[in-house]
Amino acid sequence: MKLLRPFQNAMGIDISDQVVRMVQLIPKGKKFKLNSISSRPIPEGIVTDGEIKDLKVLSGLLKDLVKKPHLKHPSTSAAILSLPERKTFTKIIELPNDMHENFDANLREGLAEHIPLNLDEAYIDWQIIGEPKPEDKKIRALVSVAPQLLVESYLEVCKQARLTPLILETESAALSRFALEEIPGSGSHMIIDLGANRTGIIITEEDFVAYSSTLAISGNQLTGVLQIKLGLNANEAEQAKIICGLDPKKSKGVVKQILEPELKPLLQKSMEIISFYEEHSIKNFKVKDLTLVGGGAKLSHLDELISSMISLPVRLGGWPSNLINPGEKLLHLAPSYATAIGLSLRGAQNLPWFSDKNL
Ligand SMILES: Nc1ncnc2c1ncn2[C@@H]1O[C@H](COP(=O)(O)OP(=O)(O)OP(=O)(O)O)[C@@H](O)[C@H]1O
Ligand SMILES: [Mg+2]
Repeated sequence: MKLLRPFQNAMGIDISDQVVRMVQLIPKGKKFKLNSISSRPIPEGIVTDGEIKDLKVLSGLLKDLVKKPHLKHPSTSAAILSLPERKTFTKIIELPNDMHENFDANLREGLAEHIPLNLDEAYIDWQIIGEPKPEDKKIRALVSVAPQLLVESYLEVCKQARLTPLILETESAALSRFALEEIPGSGSHMIIDLGANRTGIIITEEDFVAYSSTLAISGNQLTGVLQIKLGLNANEAEQAKIICGLDPKKSKGVVKQILEPELKPLLQKSMEIISFYEEHSIKNFKVKDLTLVGGGAKLSHLDELISSMISLPVRLGGWPSNLINPGEKLLHLAPSYATAIGLSLRGAQNLPWFSDKNL
C-alpha cells in the first residue's frame, strides 16, 4: 500500500511475533551492496499473530534495531514493512471493463463476495493484471485488503520509532520479489516460508502473487515434537533439530524418523495446492519450481524429502546473486531474512510509486 513517494533506498523491516529484522540494500552499478542488517528478539506477548499488542516496547526495539545495526548505519529513516499474511487478504477478482465509470463500486462489490472484512474499515489496494483491451468485457484485478486498525498500528509504531513508513505490503509480495530475483519471472513458481509459528505457501504467476495461504505447521512445532518424543528440554530439542535435521546418518536417523511424519502433511497440502492451481489456471500455467525460505527451510536434507514427494526442482532461498558478497558470516542468514530482503529490494529499486508492480 503506497503511502508516500519513496525515499532513497528505503530499508526493509520484517516484524514477526518473535523477531524484528531490518535490511538495507544500496544499488551499486548493476549490483546491490548490503549497507545495513540487524535483528532483535521480541519478548513474548508484544506481537501476537502479527498484531501489535505493545506499541511502546516494539517501537523501542525498532529504534535500537536501526541505531545499532551490523555494518553501516541505515542512510535513511524511510522504511518498507510487511503486513502479516494471516491478517491480510489478496485475491484476483474479475470485474466489468468500465475502468473510468464504476470501477470503485464494482471493485467493492466484487470484493464483498470474497473477503470476510468490513470494507469500510479496511485499506484496499489493487493492480490490473495484464493490459486489457477496450473490447474486453472483463478485466482481472489483483486486490489486497488489510484491516484499518492493523495498518494504523504499524504506522503508529513507525512514528514512535521515528521511522518514515513509505509502503506496507503483504508478506507474500515481499517473498515473491525475493524469490523472483533469482528465477525468471515468467510462468509460475511456488514459495514455502517455514517460519517459527506458521508456514506460508505462495504461488507467483509472472510478477504477481496468484495464491497465498497459511498452514499451522511450524518450525517451533517440530522442536516441540522432538522435546516430547525424546524427553529433551526446549534448547536441547532445538539443537537436535538444527544438528540432525533429516540427515539419516545423524543420531542413527532418530530425529529424521520423528520429524518426517510431521512434515509429510505439509508436502501433501502443497501438492494439493499445486494441482488445484494448475487445474484452475486460466493460462494453463504449471508450477515450475519451489523456493524454500524462512528459518525452518534450513532444516538439513529437507530439499531431499520434498523432491522425493514433489517432482519439481527445489532450491533454498539465498542472497540475490547480484549482491556484492555479504561476507561468509552473513551467508546463512538469507532464508530467515527473506522477507526483509524482499522488502529492501523494493527500497533499493527506487521505483517511482506509480510504476510499482507488487501490492
Ligand atoms: N538450521 C535450522 N534447522 C532447522 N530449523 C531451523 C534452523 N534455523 C532456524 N530454524 C527454525 O526456524 C524457525 C524460525 O524461522 P523464522 O526466523 O523464519 O521465523 P519468523 O520469521 O520469526 O516467524 P514467522 O515467519 O513464523 O512469523 C524456528 O522454528 C527455528 O527453530
Ligand atoms: Mg517470517
